[in-house]
Order: sequence, then structure tokens, then C-alpha cells
Amino acid sequence: MSPGRHFLQIPGPTNVPDRVLRAIARPTIDHRGPEFARLARDVLEGLQRIFQTSGAVVIYPSSGTGAWEAALVNTLSPGDTVLMFETGHFAALWRDMAVRLGLIVDFVPGDWRHGVDLDALDARLRADRAGAIKAVAVVHNETSTGVASRIAGVRERMDAAGHAALLMVDTISSLGSIDYRHDEWRVDVTVACSQKGLMLPPGLGFNAISAAALARARTARLPRSYWDWQAMLSDSATGFFPYTPSTNLLYGLREAIAMLMEEGLPAVFARHRRHAEATRRAVRAWGLELVACNPEEFSHSLTAILMPTGHDADALRRLVLERFDLALGTGLGKLKGRAFRIGHLGDFNDLMLAGTLCGVEMGLSAAGVPFSPGGVAAALEYLASS
Ligand SMILES: Cc1ncc(COP(=O)(O)O)c(C=O)c1O
Repeated sequence: MSPGRHFLQIPGPTNVPDRVLRAIARPTIDHRGPEFARLARDVLEGLQRIFQTSGAVVIYPSSGTGAWEAALVNTLSPGDTVLMFETGHFAALWRDMAVRLGLIVDFVPGDWRHGVDLDALDARLRADRAGAIKAVAVVHNETSTGVASRIAGVRERMDAAGHAALLMVDTISSLGSIDYRHDEWRVDVTVACSQKGLMLPPGLGFNAISAAALARARTARLPRSYWDWQAMLSDSATGFFPYTPSTNLLYGLREAIAMLMEEGLPAVFARHRRHAEATRRAVRAWGLELVACNPEEFSHSLTAILMPTGHDADALRRLVLERFDLALGTGLGKLKGRAFRIGHLGDFNDLMLAGTLCGVEMGLSAAGVPFSPGGVAAALEYLASS
């Protein structure tokens, strides 16, 4: 028995607000009836506002990985080349998927501390005179490192090089937390899912799709069935799905979109920016090091922190969970044991951040990690004055 609320401060799944939980806890309805059609239209229109697009959106009963696969199999053919960047663990997993699907991946190496290397992008595209690269696929916010790549910059470089590759962006840990503009940045496929900035349980995957990507889908030859956009889009035009949708999660999605709209997207983004800055001030005051190196690429939805040499991040996480009922994100891939992550996204406010940082500071002390006290005070001072 742990009295009080559990602190779920991993970078997703995030805390599901009571309003969303209540919306989900309603009787399931006929997914081929008129009430469902209204629900489907509401969430599809609402998602367009969240993606900042007037184009097509599809919703899968899937995790984010399914939405990754949908983006690739609907637009590409066996043997096509995709340009990807090693920004961290999730970029590497998306690369692995593309290879398994029979694509050729040009994977630009990275150090897991920086975002997409815009100069390397530029050089690769300009060297590709034959137009072999059919897609550039990047992760907006690397959840394993707390580094956010500059998507407007990626689009600018693609335009400057005059390259016709499609642009695909994973916004799994940025959508609804960090400013993201599908139409303005002329992204062709945006990949997202439910359990992070959208404040829902896991179980919904999304693609936002440009007209160019839809056109490409007509000739793309990778096999697809469950993920086929065409079936999804023709059914959703009338408010239905080609197979059984996650009815109750869609109730939750409608409520979550309403909450984001009531707050207003600019305010949502500013709230995340402010909490990220307060967190970084705490980290700096503790004398610890961020994984992210470039201030222009600091994530607003999570912070990844390196442990001093000889100290195990997972031992700290275990202690913090046992003593304070606070879940922090583990280091992933090559950061396993070397870093931990604080998620500050979704349904989150100043006092939740204060509690989270208190848990980390008390944990550092109890685990015997060398650090300077005062991180919480630095964060509170910033929160009070900003
Ligand atoms: C950036 C990013 N991409 C992809 C994924 C995979 O999503 P899922 O675990 O929902 O399949 C995650 C999961 O955390 C992620 O953070």
C-alpha cells in the first residue's frame, strides 16, 4: 500500500487526467452506429488542430511503433533508400524497422547528444543527383536523450537542395507539448501516438498525411494490409473504420483534445518550455550534466541527465521509486545505467514539477551520488519569477 498519488514522471506514458479517465469510463457503443460516426469526426477534426494541418489524419488501434510502420509501408517500395539520422535509441529502432521492411537506410551517425545534423542532411541530398533517396525520416524529439531536432530547418535544407524526397517526422514525444506544424513545415507524414503529450493511455497511433504522401501511396509497393491508408481514409470519410476501433480511447481522445484547446496550444507549449527550463536549472545547480549539448535543441518535454562516473542511474531510479513512489525514466540503449530521464510533459503543473525535483534531490542524497544541493531551490526561484 502506497498512500497518496504515484508520481509517473517517465517521458510517457504520462499521467492521465481525471477528466480523460472519466471520459473513457463510459459504456462502449456500436462502432457502426451514428453516435460513433460523430465521435470519429470530432476526434479527426480535433487532431487536425493538434497537428496544425488541414490534411488527412488516420488513427490506428496501435502503439507508436505501428504508426511508424504505417508511414513507411504506405509510401515506399522495396529497395527504396531512406535517409535517417542516429539521434538516439528511437531513431535506431525506426532504422531497424525500415531495414526489416526491405528498405535501404543511409543512417547518418550521431553521438546521441545532438539533433539532426543539418549540414550532413544538406550534403547527402545534394550528392544524390539520381534522386535515390525517397524519404528523409527523422525523430523530432528524441525521448532517449532529451534532444529536439529543428524540423523547420530540415524542411529549409530539403527545399534549398531542391530534393523531392518525402519528409517523415516522429512526433511521439513532442505532439501536444512542443510546437509542431505539419502544414507550415510541409511535412509529408507525421507519426504520433496517444500516451505522451495527448495525456491518454497507450493504444492509439496516428499519421498526419500530406497530399504528396497520398499521391506516393498510389504507387508504393511495400506490402500492407492492416496499415493501409486507403481503406482507413475511405471509411473515415463517413465516420467509420475498416476494423474495430478503440472506442473508449477515442472518448478519451475527444476529452484530451478539448482540454488542450481550452488551454490553447500556445499556452500548452509555453507551459512545457517553462517546466523544462526550471528542470534544467535544477540539474545545473546539482552540478550534473545534461545529455543534450546544444541549447537550441533542448527538449521541452523531458530532460535526460548523465550520472557521475561510477554511479548507476538505475540504482537511483530504484531507490526513488521505493522511497518516494516516483517513477523516473531509465537510460535507453547505450545510455542504460548512465543516464536517467525526467518526463515533464502532459497533464503537469508547477507543484507536480516541484514534487518530482524534490524526489530526485532526496534520491541523489540517499543514493550517495556526489551533487550540490540547491537544485530544487533554483527551480522554485525560476518558477516563482517567471
Ligand atoms: C520518439 C519515440 N518514437 C517511437 C516510440 C515507440 O512508441 P511505442 O512504444 O508507443 O510503440 C517512442 C516510445 O516511447 C518514442 O518515444
